[in-house]
Amino acid sequence: MISFNNDYGQTAHPAVIEAVIKAQGETFPGYGEDEACDAAAQRIRSLCGAPGCQVHFLPGGTQANLTLIASVLRPHQGVLCADTGHIASHETGAIEATGHKVLTLPHQDGKITPAQIQDFVARHRADDTREHMPQPGLVYLSNTTEFGTVYTAPELNALSACCRQLNLPLYLDGARLGYALAAADGQLSFSDIARCCDAFTIGGTKQGLLYGEALVITNPALQKDFRYHIKQRGGLLGKGFLMGLQFKALLQDGLYLSLAQSATTQALRIRHAFTAQGIPLFCDSPSNQQFPILTAGQMASLANAFIFARMMPLDDNRWLARFCTSWATLPQEVDQLLKAIQKLDSIKA
Ligand SMILES: Cc1ncc(COP(=O)(O)O)c(C=O)c1O
Repeated sequence: MISFNNDYGQTAHPAVIEAVIKAQGETFPGYGEDEACDAAAQRIRSLCGAPGCQVHFLPGGTQANLTLIASVLRPHQGVLCADTGHIASHETGAIEATGHKVLTLPHQDGKITPAQIQDFVARHRADDTREHMPQPGLVYLSNTTEFGTVYTAPELNALSACCRQLNLPLYLDGARLGYALAAADGQLSFSDIARCCDAFTIGGTKQGLLYGEALVITNPALQKDFRYHIKQRGGLLGKGFLMGLQFKALLQDGLYLSLAQSATTQALRIRHAFTAQGIPLFCDSPSNQQFPILTAGQMASLANAFIFARMMPLDDNRWLARFCTSWATLPQEVDQLLKAIQKLDSIKA
């Protein structure tokens, strides 16, 4: 079986593993206060053109999200987010468990717009009973989104301007940031993200590391005491140096973006194969996740040789499926999938 199930199903890129192996026999200070974490953080500051930003390494994406969000919000505040956003749909109420409601806005292809944020906040502020509801205190986006779509630089500029005008910090969940940057094909950079957002993550788990996310806090007002917050949320790893070693290797010589680019190239081959067969895609994803709409027969045929996600049944007896490429996907694996997609011609039901 060839897996297109997700982008975190393999160990790590050899350069990352090698960096960990090379450290065999060395002794490191604990809790991320080591030279590898310092060097990786410095590399991130320089990639982002943000010398004053704080960089923290946390083991998981959910943990990074809840730690940042709970640290920013006051007790009566909630976080605005697309109704399909990861914190709203796939984190088991982790944000709510910190005491803060996720305030959802209807998505368009996984995204939200400045007009929606403006409208929500204006209605809240004009409501005589507003003190009976959570106050919007932060905006959450992810890039790529849950549907693999990508916020472009102009879209992020507009969202950032809107949030600043409303005095709301903007947080971008970058569990798949590399895939977003690769899909944007040079039109979006780490420094655009750092300029537009008050805080964001650079994903490692889905981008070639064993595990780990880098949380970057650009807004000095959000930086105070942040390591206390990480520790209280269980994210301050004794062996934090392992994330420093891994990120340092992944961010060397353009490896992060070149791995993401390779995944994107392979995903676009898959997308073209589905459209060439007249099989519709749920949305126009330019990144490593593709969402074809398949009949039960088509799904069963592909499931003979490939692992992929059955996202949900649709009203007309068809299914929304997800094919996900990763930094590790081989062109030969995609060749085999393309052959199988070409054979779907005969299966309509
Ligand atoms: C956009 C996004 N954010 C956060 C997460 C959560 O990451 P973790 O599973 O490491 O908690 C995921 C994982 O699927 C994700 O896709």
